[in-house]
Amino acid sequence: MGGVDAVPPALPPLARLPVAAVLRDGTPAVVRAGGAPGDRDLLLAGFEQFSAASRYHRFLTVVPTLTEGMLHRLVDEVDGRDHVVVVLAPADQPDHPVGVARLIRYPHDPTIADIAVSVTDDWQGRGVATAMLRVLMPLRPVGVTRLDTEAAADNPAALAMLRRLGCTQLTVQGSGVYRVQVELEPDAPIPDSPSPPS
Ligand SMILES: CC(C)(COP(=O)(O)OP(=O)(O)OC[C@H]1O[C@@H](n2cnc3c(N)ncnc32)[C@H](O)[C@@H]1OP(=O)(O)O)[C@@H](O)C(=O)NCCC(=O)NCCS
Repeated sequence: MGGVDAVPPALPPLARLPVAAVLRDGTPAVVRAGGAPGDRDLLLAGFEQFSAASRYHRFLTVVPTLTEGMLHRLVDEVDGRDHVVVVLAPADQPDHPVGVARLIRYPHDPTIADIAVSVTDDWQGRGVATAMLRVLMPLRPVGVTRLDTEAAADNPAALAMLRRLGCTQLTVQGSGVYRVQVELEPDAPIPDSPSPPS
């Protein structure tokens, strides 16, 4: 070939992780891809520290412990294509994650994904979810244009977090639970929060 260097193929987006992030309160953080084998232990340890309210808000049922089946779905089934996960840790403690966010494409409709986010109780309200979703949403499974999930009606943080992602429709699903559907903006950046919640 002539003297022109070949243009290297673009890296797959997940390969661009980890990336630096800054929380709403200025704390430096790092966001990496999730689903590593060691994430089983980290998930178990994080779940142990999760309050009963946070556990309920995450799973919408009483979950006393993460079962083997749940760990399999939450870690082993992460494939970076239909199930994409990011994990955030403070920059000065990169091996101690404080949040995890995931998108899982529904098998029945490849244009729709479920979303689930967990932030350790003592890190909630500092912009961890916002920082993770800024990284995660551009990595969403190819072809996904809508989120379809459930959130407790008494979970304003989850509802605010989901509203940031696009045009949101809430439907009463059952006692104290909303079905939340979000039409995703094509690659629109997630705007900054005006200020930390009080
Ligand atoms: C819901 C959850 C993931 C949010 O994570 P977080 O890091 O605390 O959220 P952030 O600080 O990034 O804030 C996200 C939005 O929620 C708002 N928010 C945060 N805490 C809030 C609170 N206690 N009350 C009202 N709004 C709140 C923020 O202002 C922000 O909205 P804005 O961008 O419009 O200002 C976290 O609270 C959590 O893990 N809860 C337990 C599990 C759960 O509920 N998961 C959601 C199921 S999908």
